[in-house]
Amino acid sequence: MKTETLYIETYGCQMNEYDSDRIQNALGASITKNPKEANIVIVNTCAIREKADQKALSSLGRFKHLKAKNPELIVGVSGCVAQLYGEELIQKIPHLDFVLGPRAIPGLASLIKDIRETRSRPIETSFDVEEPFDILPYHQEGKPTAFVSIQQGCNKKCAYCIVPTVRGAEVNRPVNDIKAEAQYLIAKGVKEITLIGQTVNSWKLGKLKFGDLLRTIGEIDGLERIRFTTSYPRDITKKMVEAMAQIPKVCHHIHLPVQSGSDRVLKLMNRTYTRNWYIDSVKRLRDAMPDIAISSDMIVGFPGETEEDFEQTMSLVEEIEFDSFFSFKYSPRPGTVGEELWRSDERVKDLTARERLARLQNYQRGITLAKNMERVGKAEQVLVEEESRNDSSWLCGRTQHNRIVNFAGRKELIGKMVDVRITEGLANSLRGQYLN
Ligand code: SAH
Ligand code: F3S
Repeated sequence: MKTETLYIETYGCQMNEYDSDRIQNALGASITKNPKEANIVIVNTCAIREKADQKALSSLGRFKHLKAKNPELIVGVSGCVAQLYGEELIQKIPHLDFVLGPRAIPGLASLIKDIRETRSRPIETSFDVEEPFDILPYHQEGKPTAFVSIQQGCNKKCAYCIVPTVRGAEVNRPVNDIKAEAQYLIAKGVKEITLIGQTVNSWKLGKLKFGDLLRTIGEIDGLERIRFTTSYPRDITKKMVEAMAQIPKVCHHIHLPVQSGSDRVLKLMNRTYTRNWYIDSVKRLRDAMPDIAISSDMIVGFPGETEEDFEQTMSLVEEIEFDSFFSFKYSPRPGTVGEELWRSDERVKDLTARERLARLQNYQRGITLAKNMERVGKAEQVLVEEESRNDSSWLCGRTQHNRIVNFAGRKELIGKMVDVRITEGLANSLRGQYLN
């Protein structure tokens, strides 16, 4: 059998990165960075905001000419946009050969075989997959970090969010499978594993909860660091906080999206917690781990958000002092409760939302920078991940608090945990000096 040569473009979150690596393994394909060399081209798409989904579609358009020149080329779309628009994509895009939903990756190889034999244009978007975690991701040799999925889908019903629609209900992966994948990666030289899921800390199977899972993974020999993302505020438990504080391998960083500082907006968003609940969760985390880094996601301009509500978000950001966060202007998504509100009188003017976003980001920029500057003079343990993008005599890694550190060093240090003295705190990263 000839091996497949795959060109794959990945948009969106860590799940999509993980899925792209699974797609590579599902096809037993080698990867090319040049679509002209590929016999299969796949765009793995993100539907979280309108901009993301348009980007994915316009990217598909770019392969029209390639397909015209080479009719044997198979062009497919996978991921959340594939799931969301399904059939419509096949109708609208004549050069598209298949549509593959995020749950359907295990069936990809036979799908491609069918396409070649019958010239069909299949749409595979069923959630009804017997083994949703079948097909492990391809792991690039020498890469010291890796994702391990512990959960697919999401059971929350945040009013703005398309994820539950396109990724289905929450399915939690059995401990032994998670452990086996972690062990396989460690044997390949991986030092740091990030457990991924839409709401990782909601993970539970039988009597086991997320805190128990952290302990199990924490016992694996050879593993040096454990991260996890994304956490859902309501599902932070005492057991989880204790596990984080007690297991030395667990990094003191949590990504804990708050979305808004206003109780009224949180309720409209159906986030199921209040501002005070969130503040209290952060306090519990900081009491147990005074050094913990806290990052977050924010949405501004959700329908119904008043100036006063936005001030509440600003004051929360002031009060918590996040290490960093991602912030977005609300984008209506088809079929969501948020979209209904957005169609009503509740819509926030685009200009207003833009201004709020700019104000929020501007304020946080100062905090993140100040926090980065506080690190100057301190020694940090850094897991060296790769050569810096701009200069190959520099290396790049991260501290346990998820701060990026660049420093001069030889590439033999990649994959090692090293001590670095911080010399400079920048807007989004640190610079330092290797200490041997
Ligand atoms: N649980 C997920 C959240 C996925 S979406 C995770 O693993 O990260 C990531 C972030 O995008 C959300 O936290 C939210 O801040 C933002 N987001 C989601 N839907 C959005 C929308 N319709 N408009 C703007 N931002 C959105
Ligand atoms: Fe989306 Fe809320 Fe789940 S943000 S992924 S519905 S926790």
